[in-house]
Amino acid sequence: MSAADAVPAPMPLRGRRVTLGVTGSVSAYKSVEAARRLEDAGALVDVALTPSAARFIPPLTFRSLVQGEVAADLWDPSAPAEQHVAMGRRADTMLVAPASATTIAKLAQGLGDNPVTLTALATSAPLVVAPAMDSVMYAQPGVQANLELLKARGVFIAGPAIGRLASGGSGLGRLIEPVELAAAVRSAIGRTVGDLRGRHIIVTAGGTREPIDPVRFVGNHSSGKMGVAVAEAARDQGAAVTLVTTQSPPAGSYGIVVRRVDTALEMQETIRKAARGADALVMAAAVADYRPAEAAESKLKKQDAEEPGMVLELVENPDVIASIDAPHLLKVGFAAETDDLIANARAKIEKKGLAFIAANDVTESDAGFQAETNRVVLLDASGEAERLPLLHKYDVGVRILERLKSHPRWPARQR
Ligand code: CTP
Repeated sequence: MSAADAVPAPMPLRGRRVTLGVTGSVSAYKSVEAARRLEDAGALVDVALTPSAARFIPPLTFRSLVQGEVAADLWDPSAPAEQHVAMGRRADTMLVAPASATTIAKLAQGLGDNPVTLTALATSAPLVVAPAMDSVMYAQPGVQANLELLKARGVFIAGPAIGRLASGGSGLGRLIEPVELAAAVRSAIGRTVGDLRGRHIIVTAGGTREPIDPVRFVGNHSSGKMGVAVAEAARDQGAAVTLVTTQSPPAGSYGIVVRRVDTALEMQETIRKAARGADALVMAAAVADYRPAEAAESKLKKQDAEEPGMVLELVENPDVIASIDAPHLLKVGFAAETDDLIANARAKIEKKGLAFIAANDVTESDAGFQAETNRVVLLDASGEAERLPLLHKYDVGVRILERLKSHPRWPARQR
């Protein structure tokens, strides 16, 4: 077992109680996986099922899976009295997934006639509703009006997605995936009680790709995991997050605005646009210092070269983080070093105008580019160094955000 295997998994929902309401839809199988993901993230899950949900997924499946209670029958003499009231009261959030058109209508009207709708009436916790139905049903003005009504009351509407539908064909109406359902719960809790409500944080991730020709690029080994972890941690605390990344949108990015870019110049431009009004920029991306002087318009052929071998001319990229200057913006850099970690990282704080820097030794196998874990030293301009233990990248993100929140230039009040 390596040291990284002993690092505790992140628990973004530790201490939270989530009530999962399941309604009648073939996609109810996804709510089983969502319940597991919520508990894996540290939550304690109670489940309420409508009678039709219980025909798709027997309550026993949830009873075997979750630590909390399962309410499937209002008239079950063995169930605790007023179970829906207790479940509603103790919930930090309630997720209704899948939410059928009928349940959405009942929620909009304030009707309570089954364990799901009654629990929803009995809670004052944030409500996340994840619709699932055929695309024609979803487009009905009645359904849309009910969703608008819920939205206007502060209900979080998660999805639906476009994709294959049980009714045949493909369209808008598919329940979002379990990983996104769990992310929607994290986002809703953050937006309701998180420390970063009302803040905007820009995070960059991945290695830039500087084109040589239409099929080749100069790149690096950055996996983008560190940046994604910071973005998730900020989302979970309620911040509006813009993730500028060279990779495809990560799974579980619900609640994060993802901007895909390739090159350092595109990254710079995208950050500039987002930076107005932003509070912090966390630059976890591995930006190429140089790019090919010219990107060929068509694929370079071997025989194009007159001599064997090839010389690629490179020009310098701008220092992206140093070039971004916006009022209120606190800048956090990363320093991936192979030698003289502290001295090299310290020099970058001043040179790039950073609030602080997270320095890591990329030669270690349990830290750095591809790993799930990272061991960083947080350094600020005063020279004070905070050595963090080997942590999951999500928890490194949490520590970086803590440091931001206690920074003297972090505005005390929400703007
Ligand atoms: N960075 C940047 N623009 C660049 C290069 C780096 O914004 N052109 C950012 C990185 O995202 C990181 C920090 O600057 O947050 C430090 O990156 P690093 O690669 O360690 O430093 P460099 O400035 O490239 O210095 P060197 O390669 O000489 O170590």
